[in-house]
Amino acid sequence: MDGTTNLKGAAQAPFHLTQGDAPFYLPQGDECAVFRAAFENRLPVLLKGPTGCGKTRFVSHMAATLGRPLYTVACHDDLSAADLIGRYLLKGGETVWVDGPLTRAVREGAICYLDEVVEARKDVTVVLHPLTDDRRILPIDRTSEELEAAPGFMLVASYNPGYQNILKTLKPSTRQRFVALEFTFPRPEHEIPVVARESGLSEDRVQPLVRLANKLRAMKGQDLEEGVSTRLVIYTATLIAQGMAADRAILAAMIEPLTDDADTKRGLLDLVAAVFG
Ligand SMILES: Nc1ncnc2c1ncn2[C@@H]1O[C@H](COP(=O)(O)OP(=O)(O)O)[C@@H](O)[C@H]1O
Ligand SMILES: [Mg+2]
Repeated sequence: MDGTTNLKGAAQAPFHLTQGDAPFYLPQGDECAVFRAAFENRLPVLLKGPTGCGKTRFVSHMAATLGRPLYTVACHDDLSAADLIGRYLLKGGETVWVDGPLTRAVREGAICYLDEVVEARKDVTVVLHPLTDDRRILPIDRTSEELEAAPGFMLVASYNPGYQNILKTLKPSTRQRFVALEFTFPRPEHEIPVVARESGLSEDRVQPLVRLANKLRAMKGQDLEEGVSTRLVIYTATLIAQGMAADRAILAAMIEPLTDDADTKRGLLDLVAAVFG
């Protein structure tokens, strides 16, 4: 994608700044209209759904369509409020304040996307509260500043409600500050053209892979924690498009990533044989 930079600093949260052309996104419903309405009304948006079903692609597409720069932060259990807001750093014997990605987005009127927000430390949600109500302010204690978000600023967060972890769920007091959109694995009539386009494999050869993916998804909960993502179907199709035999590609990109358990794997391979046999 055009204009993508990786900015990493020793004492700063790694983030991704994207600007430029809108990447391809095939809508599954009215999510683009809801997102646009939220943006125009300065409301934050929460994207719920399993991994690899198009949330990140959707945000990139919408940011470019709305003409806003996008700061993406992949949240993890060590990510703190200071990582998002900024901190004093030592530069050539002097201490200088360096804005974090959230502060930059607030100042510049950009979209800030906190991917897997529940992974972040607790103090992060505290920072988000004054930004997600109609004050739209970011208090920076260290510099005694209180920033008012620029008009184009928008907060977007994602989380995966499928991980049944009580410790890692969004509190209602946080969740109820967002307009929320649910993402699910696309219906075959959407997933087939998406996978074909992303992998270069023809739709008629993608079709049985999507059928298999949906059979594997139906096993979620019995033996599998999580269903096959669209991302994995794209990987499989990409390997096949490059000349790999279908059964080898399926094992490498659709079965092995799902389970480490030998019995479960055997069960999944039986399903493969039933679809492809
Ligand atoms: N509706 C869609 N339109 C276009 N591409 C899609 C769509 N849904 C999924 N994809 C593809 O699936 C891949 C994984 O999606 P991604 O947005 O990274 O998932 P998530 O952020 O939900 O984990 C994307 O890189 C893209 O190729
Ligand atoms: Mg993502």
